[in-house]
Amino acid sequence: MTDRRPILFFDSGMGGLSVLAPTAKLLPRAPLVYVADSAGFPYGTRSEAEIAARVPALLGRLAERYDPRLIVIACNTASTIALQHVRAALDVPIVGTVPAIKPAAELSRTRVIGVLGTEATVRQPYVADLAARFAGDCTVIRHGSAELVELAEAALGGARPSIASVRDALAGLMAQDRAGEIDVIVNACTHFPLLEDELVSATDGKIRFIDGGAGIARRVAYLTEGQEWPAALPGRAVFTERNARTESLAAALARFGLNEIETL
Ligand code: DGL
Repeated sequence: MTDRRPILFFDSGMGGLSVLAPTAKLLPRAPLVYVADSAGFPYGTRSEAEIAARVPALLGRLAERYDPRLIVIACNTASTIALQHVRAALDVPIVGTVPAIKPAAELSRTRVIGVLGTEATVRQPYVADLAARFAGDCTVIRHGSAELVELAEAALGGARPSIASVRDALAGLMAQDRAGEIDVIVNACTHFPLLEDELVSATDGKIRFIDGGAGIARRVAYLTEGQEWPAALPGRAVFTERNARTESLAAALARFGLNEIETL
């Protein structure tokens, strides 16, 4: 019997699509389920306790329902807070999303790098630890932005943001000491690569933005190497709640091959 078990991607909203896309490119026959916790969105302004309680419980329900061969937590906020809890609770391989601080440090010439995430992610000791281990000789400037998350969701629904609004959202980063020397910014929120063009324009093309999407795709390919894939199955998007926002997303989801939409 062919193995029909999907790879399940999980995020609070649409950001995880920036991780799903490179994986789908690398593994075009993999059946994909994309889950957005629309009832819990946004995660970035929630407390650690809320996320640590919510994410493992939800992924437990999802694992039962969709029987995935592998789960990708395509969300930095959920990964930096809840990855260990999820791994302890589920008997499924879990790939998390780690801010790409190591590759940023390898690229930076000025030795000043930015880490742009949600407020919840940038205050995690996990991020400070990555900076100490892999960017010890760099100045690492962190900034959390809930506005950029909202702008990315809207962009996917068809409302591209103005460059001025993206520049405003970056003001809290750029106002920090030595920010003028930043040459690489880590997109430590999976929503932000969805705004890459605007981010590059808002910083006058002077800063490189990097994220973990391609690395995660390679990791998923490695972990599923030699596994069988079924004949093409339609991709499926799952929301934990349908609301005005989710209704505007069908066309965008179809562009990512997610043609079936359902509610958990
Ligand atoms: N996409 C998420 C991340 O990578 C979180 C966005 C949010 O819900 O605030 O952190």
